Amino acid sequence: MKNKYLYIQTFGCQMNVHDSEQMAALLADCGYKTTNNLKLADLILLNTCSIREKAAQKVYSELGRIGLLKEQNPELIIGVGGCLAQHLGNKFHKRVRHLDFVFGTHNIHRLPEIVAAVRKKREKITQIDFHKVANSIGIYAPPVNGALSAFVTIMQGCNNFCAYCVVPYLRGPEMSRPPGEIIEEIKKLADQGIKEVTLLGQNVNSYGKNLGKSSNFTALIKKIGKVSGIERIRFTTSHPRDLSEELINCFNEEEKLCKHIHLPVQSGSNRLLALMNRGYSIENYLTKVDRLRTVCPQISITSDIIVGFPGETGNDYQETIDMMEKIRFDSTFSFKYSERKGTAAEKLEGKIQECEKQRRLKFLQDQQDKHTLQKNMELEGSRQELLIEGKSKNSENDLMGRTSSWKIVNFKGERELIGKLMDVIITKSYLHSLRGKLIEEAGNAN
Ligand code: 5AD
Ligand code: SF4
Repeated sequence: MKNKYLYIQTFGCQMNVHDSEQMAALLADCGYKTTNNLKLADLILLNTCSIREKAAQKVYSELGRIGLLKEQNPELIIGVGGCLAQHLGNKFHKRVRHLDFVFGTHNIHRLPEIVAAVRKKREKITQIDFHKVANSIGIYAPPVNGALSAFVTIMQGCNNFCAYCVVPYLRGPEMSRPPGEIIEEIKKLADQGIKEVTLLGQNVNSYGKNLGKSSNFTALIKKIGKVSGIERIRFTTSHPRDLSEELINCFNEEEKLCKHIHLPVQSGSNRLLALMNRGYSIENYLTKVDRLRTVCPQISITSDIIVGFPGETGNDYQETIDMMEKIRFDSTFSFKYSERKGTAAEKLEGKIQECEKQRRLKFLQDQQDKHTLQKNMELEGSRQELLIEGKSKNSENDLMGRTSSWKIVNFKGERELIGKLMDVIITKSYLHSLRGKLIEEAGNAN
């Protein structure tokens, strides 16, 4: 039988990247091999994001390009999944005529049956129901050959309804996966060579709320810490309001928990934080940062910031800049506010002009670059443990690894070291990476 090829393109966050891995795994069981060559594909899937308008626009332009392929090959099947698919549903078919199927964020597990139905009847399908049971989050995606890191979804959905955000509408209410299932998946991953897991959820700090008293996030981390073969545990994303003292202490107590937290602050202005419905003040946030740095002085703290939220005055913006100056994040993802239909912020007055948002973003990013460089410089001369991921992008002769704090380090080393945990001394710092030198001593190999 002729091979069938799947081309899958992912837009947006790590959650989507992992959803795509799950889609590929399900379709592999139906005989689809994944390809990076669009022209080879029998089935093209776009896993979409609609968190900001720019992400949605990218999907449309990509669909335009793919439509041309369908003119040459009418047998080609084209499907869209993810947030934009959930949002548009049937309307997607009207907007993009050459689409065969649309499936929502709760329907990944239905992909094999949807594809089979399209192949058989060539009819257009839309599947965007929400389900009370989290069917989609337990799909096992086997790691690709040589992979050291894997994502593990521990919960889906979000109950927070931040005023700017579409996620709760498109991914549904929060649902946690039972700890037993998560541990089983991680053991399986460890058996297949995975050394580092990143636990995924929109708000991991509220993990377990629907599971009863016995499950909370810190307890889960500690259980994962006992899985042999797993050397590093990461997680994303944390909501500052729900970051508990217990979890903060875990950075000191659980050796395998990496010394990095992504803690989206969004704004430095209390007035805006209230309008955004974030549920904390900037003083609360600063206290948590202080606690994290007291408990774990090496911790790296990264964040998300939005500029140009409706009604953001020059003063609010300045408070964000001042807050950044005080905290000095290791790095930030910063965004211009993007209006999303159906969210509370859509109805707010005081929309900021695009050029002003751009100006605010640029200044903020320049400030952040200075802080990132300074943070990296502080690491010069320090000893860092790396998980060696592979060859460096910069040079054929170099390897690349990541520190526990999520920084990239390039260094000279033999290929046999890939996959190992080794210590280096940081010799030089740049904005986006560090340079290191392996420590030559007995025992520097696990
Ligand atoms: N506009 C701009 N940024 C947004 N984010 C979420 N929704 C929007 C929006 N409508 C950002 C937040 C969040 C990150 C994942 O995306 O900063 O933390
Ligand atoms: Fe969106 Fe807020 Fe939920 Fe994050 S916590 S997914 S920003 S609603």
